Amino acid sequence: MPTVLVRALAFTLMTLSLATLSAVPLSAQADRGLAWRTGDEAQAIERRVEALLARMTLDEKIGQLNLTGRGDGFDPQWVATGRSGAVMNFIDPAEVRRLQDLVQASRLKIPLIIGLDAIHGFATYFPQPIGQAATFDPRLIELAAYWTARESRAAGVNWTFAPMVDLTRDPRWGRVFEGAGEDVHLATIVAAARVRGYHRGGLGTSVKHFAGYGEAEAGRDYNSVWIPPSKLLDLHVPPFLAAIRAGAFTAMTSLSAMNGVPATADRPLLTGLLKGRLGFRGFVVSDFASIEELINHGVAADGAEAARKALLAGVDMDMFSGLFIRHLADEVRAERVPVAAIDEAVRRILRVKFHMGLFDAPPVDPAATAGQITTQPAREAALEVAREAMVLLKNDGDILPIRPDVRSIAVIGALGMIDDDWQYGDNVGLPRIRRPTVQGELARQLGPDVKITAQAGLTTICGTEFADREATLRAAREADLIVAVLGEECEFMGESASRTRLDLPGVQGQLLDDLIATGKPVVLVLKTARPLVLTDIAARVPAIIQSFHLGSQGRVAIGEVLTGRVNPSGKLPMSMPRSVGQIPVYYDQLPTGRPLRKGERYETSFVDERNEPLFPFGFGLSYTRFTLDALTLDSASVPLNGTIAGSVRLANVGSRDGREVVQVYLRQRVGSRSRPLRQLRAFDKVTLGAGASQTVRFAVPVEALGFHDDQGRRHLEPGLYDVFVGTDSRAELTATVTVRGRVANND
Ligand code: NOJ
Repeated sequence: MPTVLVRALAFTLMTLSLATLSAVPLSAQADRGLAWRTGDEAQAIERRVEALLARMTLDEKIGQLNLTGRGDGFDPQWVATGRSGAVMNFIDPAEVRRLQDLVQASRLKIPLIIGLDAIHGFATYFPQPIGQAATFDPRLIELAAYWTARESRAAGVNWTFAPMVDLTRDPRWGRVFEGAGEDVHLATIVAAARVRGYHRGGLGTSVKHFAGYGEAEAGRDYNSVWIPPSKLLDLHVPPFLAAIRAGAFTAMTSLSAMNGVPATADRPLLTGLLKGRLGFRGFVVSDFASIEELINHGVAADGAEAARKALLAGVDMDMFSGLFIRHLADEVRAERVPVAAIDEAVRRILRVKFHMGLFDAPPVDPAATAGQITTQPAREAALEVAREAMVLLKNDGDILPIRPDVRSIAVIGALGMIDDDWQYGDNVGLPRIRRPTVQGELARQLGPDVKITAQAGLTTICGTEFADREATLRAAREADLIVAVLGEECEFMGESASRTRLDLPGVQGQLLDDLIATGKPVVLVLKTARPLVLTDIAARVPAIIQSFHLGSQGRVAIGEVLTGRVNPSGKLPMSMPRSVGQIPVYYDQLPTGRPLRKGERYETSFVDERNEPLFPFGFGLSYTRFTLDALTLDSASVPLNGTIAGSVRLANVGSRDGREVVQVYLRQRVGSRSRPLRQLRAFDKVTLGAGASQTVRFAVPVEALGFHDDQGRRHLEPGLYDVFVGTDSRAELTATVTVRGRVANND
C-alpha cells in the first residue's frame, strides 16, 4: 500500500518552515526564474545599489518612487527624464518597447518596472484565484501562476499585483474571488505556491493588501476594518509571511483603515511589522491613489502632508497619486522629510530591480510575443487547473454524470455561451484563444446521438432581462435534461462590487424557477465569483456544480465534468451561508460560553436560522464514494518541539477513479485564551482508483499550533489537543494527543 505524507505548514512568525512544502515537482524544473540573490551576488548588488544611489539627484531619486501608468495624462517623457521608476497597465509589447527604449535615452538608464494586475492569466486565463484554491492542489496553483507569468513576461510586463492573500470571510465583499478563502492554513499554502509560480515564470510579485483589507465591515469595499493584534497575527499575517518567505519582491498597502489608521499611513504596520518583524526586504507600493486618499480618510490636510505621512510610514512607491513626485522634494528642502528616508525607499526599489535581474534583461521583442502566448502547453495547463477547480455541491440520485439514456439536453443561460472571461486588464489587441461554449462542448463530447439545444434566456450575461422566454421554456420542456449555467459576471465581481443580497442577479432566479417548473431535471452550473446563498435553490434542484469562473478552458472542463470524463474533486475554500444574516460564517470559530447543544433558548443561535452554513468549508462531492477510517496517531504524547503525526485509511468504495482531499483539523482543548473549535492544519489531495485504498500519513509540527495575544506575544502551550480527520471541516474521526513540556512565550 503506498503511503502519502500529508505536509503541514508551520506558520509561526518565528520559525516558519516552508521547506516542508518544497517538494512540489514543478519547482524542481530547470528554469530558475526570479529569486532573491544570495551570498556574493547579493553583496555585489548592495554595492551597485549604493554606487547608483550616490550618482542620483534628488529629483531622480524621487522619480524612482513614482509609479505612473497608461491612461489620461501619461507622458512618456517622464520615463526619458527619470521621473517615473515604474509604470503599469501597458500590455501592448510595442508600447512597452518604446518605453524601454526611452529608458536607454535617460541619464542613468535605470530599468523600468512594468506592472499589471495579471491575476489569473494574461492571454490564457486560468480559474479565478478562489477557484484555484478550490483545487486544494499547490502544484496546480503554482502552474497557473507560472503560465500567467510566462505570457505576461512575453509582452514585456515584469511585475504583477498579485497574489492577493487577504483572508476572505465575507462573501458580500466583491474581491473574494481574488483570494484563497476563509482559512489561514490553505491561504498560506496558496500564497507560497502562487509566488513560486509567478517567479518561476519570470514575473515579480506584489503580495497584497497589507493588511486586513478583506475584513471590510459589512463586506462594503474600502470600509473600515477592526482587527485586534492577536487576530491580525494569527489569521491575516501568516499568508503574507508565507509569500515573503517564498520570495515576494514587493508588497502593496490596503486601501482601508485598520483600527482607525489608514494602512498607507500606518508606520507600526508597514515599518514595524512588515519591514521589521516579518523581515520584508522588498519595497512597499501604495494601492491606487491611496496616498491621496489619506486626505479623504481625514489623516492628512493636503497632498504634501499625505505624501510625507505615507513615506515616513514606510511606503516606498506611490501608485498613481502623483503626490510623491509633486511634494517630496519640497518636503526635503523644508526639512520635514529627511533625505535618508528618500534614500532608503530608493535603495529598496533599486535592490528589487537588481534582484529581479532587470538591469541585465533584454528589452521585449514585440515580434516574438504572439508566439509565446496562448501556446498549447498554456492551454493544457489552463484545462488541467479548471478540471480540479469545480466543486460538486449536490448530486441527488447520481443524476450526474449525464446518464446514457439522456437523449436531449437544453443548455440555458447566457453564461454558458459567452466567449469571454472577465479579469482585470483584459489583453485587448493580443491574440486570444478560441473559447468554447458549454453546449458546443457537450455536443463534441457526447456525439451526434444526443441532441443539444441552447438558449441564452437572458439579454445580458448579468441576467437583467429575459430574452425569448417562450423559446427558452420550449427548449427546456422538450429536453430530457436541463443544464442551467447561471451566476455572476460584470459588475457583480471584483473591486467595488460588494453585494447585500447573495442571490442570482437580475431575473436569473425567476428563470431558474421557470426551468424547475417544467418538471424536467435541472443541473445547475454556477459561475460566480463568490459563494451565493443557495438555500432555496439547493432544496429544489438535484445537482449543483460550483464552478466560480474557470478561465479560457473552463467550458471544456465543465463539459468533461457533466459527461463524466472528469470526476470533480474541488473543495469549498469558503463556507456557503444559508442566509446573508449568518455572515460572517466560517468554520474555525471560537467556542462560546453557551454552545448550541440542546437547541434551547440562551444557547448561541439565531431564532430564525440555523448556525451552520449550507455547505461547509472543505466540502465537495465526487462521482465516486470515499470512506475514511483507522485514524491512528504515532504517539499519544508529543513534546512541544515535536510533531503530531499519524495516519488514516482512505478507501474509494465507488466505481470510478477519483481524488479526495484528506483534511486534518486540530483543537487545543484548554489554553490561556479561547482557541478555535478546530483549525485546518494539514491536507493532502490523494488520487485513488475505484476499489483501492491507501494509508494517508499526516504530520503537524506542534510549533504550528502557537497563537498570539494582543500584546503581539506568541504562545505555544502544552495540554490536550483534539485531532479531527475528514473530507470537509465537519471531520468526524477523532483522536486526542497530549502535548507535553513547559509553556513557551516568544515575544
Ligand atoms: C486597486 C486594487 O485594490 C489593487 O489590488 C490593484 O492592484 C490596483 N488597483 C491596480 O490596478
